[in-house]
Amino acid sequence: MKIGVLTGGGDCPGLNAVIRAVVRKAQSLDYDVIGIKQGWKGILEKNYEEMDLFSVSGILHRGGTILGSSRTNVFKIDNGVEIVKNNLKEMGVDALVAIGGEDTLGVANKLFKEGVNVVGVPKTIDNDLNATDYTFGFDTAVNIATEAIDRLHTTAESHNRVIVVEVMGRHAGWIAVHSGMAGGADSILIPEQKFKMSEVAADIKARHARGKSFSIIVVAEGAQLEDEAGQDHMILSSKEKDSFGHVQLGGIGNIVAEGIEKLTGYETRATVLGHIQRGGSPTAYDRVLGTRFGVHAVELIRDGKFGRMSALKGNKIVDAELEEAVGTLKTVDLDLYEVAKTFFG
Ligand code: F6P
Repeated sequence: MKIGVLTGGGDCPGLNAVIRAVVRKAQSLDYDVIGIKQGWKGILEKNYEEMDLFSVSGILHRGGTILGSSRTNVFKIDNGVEIVKNNLKEMGVDALVAIGGEDTLGVANKLFKEGVNVVGVPKTIDNDLNATDYTFGFDTAVNIATEAIDRLHTTAESHNRVIVVEVMGRHAGWIAVHSGMAGGADSILIPEQKFKMSEVAADIKARHARGKSFSIIVVAEGAQLEDEAGQDHMILSSKEKDSFGHVQLGGIGNIVAEGIEKLTGYETRATVLGHIQRGGSPTAYDRVLGTRFGVHAVELIRDGKFGRMSALKGNKIVDAELEEAVGTLKTVDLDLYEVAKTFFG
């Protein structure tokens, strides 16, 4: 048995833990592994390397992915599926482990329907993938954002300022809600619930009226501002679309900061955390989750359970159909958001 492993989409802490687990588990079953470079692009270009215990030694704690990543969509390339099938045959790959989020696993699911033996591992800092309670990478991103909020608290207090922290989260506000709750944010704005600037300003004014001289607002990059006429606005940093049709988000933090300063009169600053949330060493939680996912992915291959992915339910590793994982996004549980709201203003 020869397994190909690839990492696709935005990188995230814990990818190397999964790659290591796939190679180690495969080795224990006497399977060979090749590492495919730069996601799906590596299959199209037959860019890969043989992997052994040395290739994965010393990588558990390292951020990023030793295989590289890309946002290549096989289905947007002429004869993409045929090229993938032929190249996998030429490379001698019997089964694939695709480590990725909605886009990468969406491609994996379609390839499975075209007859490719593929299993998935759910990855994204956004935690918006369905059919698993958590994706690896999320815990690290939340911890990084929480630490940033803690640091911003002290400087906001010294200067009597409002500080707006923009975190990642294209379609779902999981990072915003978890880091905002952990960091004691006074307002949290998420893509799942449109917000009006006047309502946020009212919360901040109420807080200052009870004697507080500073505030922290956490906003997810995909949060949608509703203007006073009821029109929604998603703030983009570029209208250009990637091969999965995604525009580049960014800029909502500055817009909220300007609006809040104007409506409250309080000095306000914005900080955009950006890719810092995806970089560096994974937390212990993400290392363990990634390791468990990677081992289970090889077990799925051993058992011939293709078209499925490793998943977490409660604290058990189970598996789910790729179709279920990519069909709909897992957005923020609104009961959780209600709890977060208790502390607004
Ligand atoms: O999908 C993960 C993610 O980090 C999103 O939160 C963010 O919108 C996007 O990737 C950024 O993508 P890129 O690294 O291509 O700018």
